[in-house]
Amino acid sequence: MARKRASKPTTTTEDTITTTKEAILTNNKETKRPQETNNDQPIAPPKKGFIFKLSLLLIAPYFYLLFFHYQIQHDLIKPILINAGLSLVGFFLTVKMIPVASKYVLRRNLFGYDINKKGTPQGTVKVPESLGIVVAVVFMVLTIVFQFFTFAPDSIWLVEYNAALASICFMTLLGFIDDVLDVPWRVKLVLPSIAALPLLMAYAGHTTIIIPKPLIPYVGLKLLDLGFIYKIYMWFLAIFCTNCINIHAGINGLEVGQTVVIASAILIHNVMQIGASADPEYQQAHAFSVYLVQPLLATSMALLSYNWYPSSVFVGDTYTYFAGMTMAVVGILGHFSETLLIFFLAQVLNFLLSVPQLFGFRHCPRHRLPRFDPQTGLLTGTDDGTLVNFYLRMFGRKSENSLCVHLLLVQALGCCICFGLRYLLTGWYK
Ligand code: UD1
Ligand code: MG
Repeated sequence: MARKRASKPTTTTEDTITTTKEAILTNNKETKRPQETNNDQPIAPPKKGFIFKLSLLLIAPYFYLLFFHYQIQHDLIKPILINAGLSLVGFFLTVKMIPVASKYVLRRNLFGYDINKKGTPQGTVKVPESLGIVVAVVFMVLTIVFQFFTFAPDSIWLVEYNAALASICFMTLLGFIDDVLDVPWRVKLVLPSIAALPLLMAYAGHTTIIIPKPLIPYVGLKLLDLGFIYKIYMWFLAIFCTNCINIHAGINGLEVGQTVVIASAILIHNVMQIGASADPEYQQAHAFSVYLVQPLLATSMALLSYNWYPSSVFVGDTYTYFAGMTMAVVGILGHFSETLLIFFLAQVLNFLLSVPQLFGFRHCPRHRLPRFDPQTGLLTGTDDGTLVNFYLRMFGRKSENSLCVHLLLVQALGCCICFGLRYLLTGWYK
């Protein structure tokens, strides 16, 4: 029984939302295509060399800071290393599981066509969808098992840790439901507001914000207790982070690539804060964030090895929602949401460009992707309001792979700007 629509290779920007029923019909029609691949055909192997080089590039500065630059106490380093060891196991497990899961999702007709290959033989291949489910399951197992090694049974951190896991798990479930049922995208926008509830309800941390030093004379306070407004802020942050990863998408490797870049920046930020602070509570908040981000990074790297251009699997909304929610909860519970938002600079720009279409001022097609020219293999920017299209309009036509690299460099540049700002404003701002 077909469960999901697959994006047709003939999709145009004029397409509207397809219902599940239409999709099933489409699938049935599509299965008669002569060039299509067999459902049981194995997917292409992971791009190991690329992932190895990328890991060295991103992880080297992190381990340098952790072991050599700062003198971090042994009792803080130990759980981080246990977590890193578990994450490595998670990486290999995810690499092994993705081809297996791919066969199963294809058998259930959970696949998509690569829209940016339309008009070439690759555009007719059924690419397995929603492989983010493997990442999320491995991540959940790692983070649940990790509690055994770190937290005392009566640790106050356990409540928030498990509330964070509940929100991430709930988000993964809703993402998978979305992939299977293909809910209209305006409904997609509200799914994270439901998934964030476990975290909001269990949150017992502080609800105060530190007033920036230049504003203290005007406000008359150094600390401001926002009470329940702080929880509303947390709620909005979770909705924003989750959706903005999902809508900065559609190019092979972009969904996972942006997560890998942001997660690496979060890790480096955490270790810098742990190393520079002497306040155990503050250090613990950042260590807490490391415990969730290391497994996220490791499992995402494994997914990227299959999703990098040319993608042999798609990640699905299961992954984009899972990754967005994970980063939102680490920002909230690690108390660095402002920094997180600057790491999300590319996503904020993409959101601002998207506002007219998201809020109905302009027509929003089902896919807001660039136009692919099968003759040259290049992508041209369309009028749809996305950073992908804006970048192509500004800097000219590009191949899909080169566009993804450019956009990830923009993402990394945003993270560097954030580190620069923090460095420049230290002592003056807070
Ligand atoms: C969001 C975007 C949509 C974009 C889509 C791409 C908004 C409001 N929605 O929708 O504009 O087109 O993500 O993921 O901004 N696909 C590719 N190549 C890729 C990744 C995906 O062709 O590298 C196609 C495949 O057909 C895949 C489909 O996109 O099956 C997945 O789309 P989905 O994640 O369901 O789209 P949305 O998240 O609803
Ligand atoms: Mg999506």
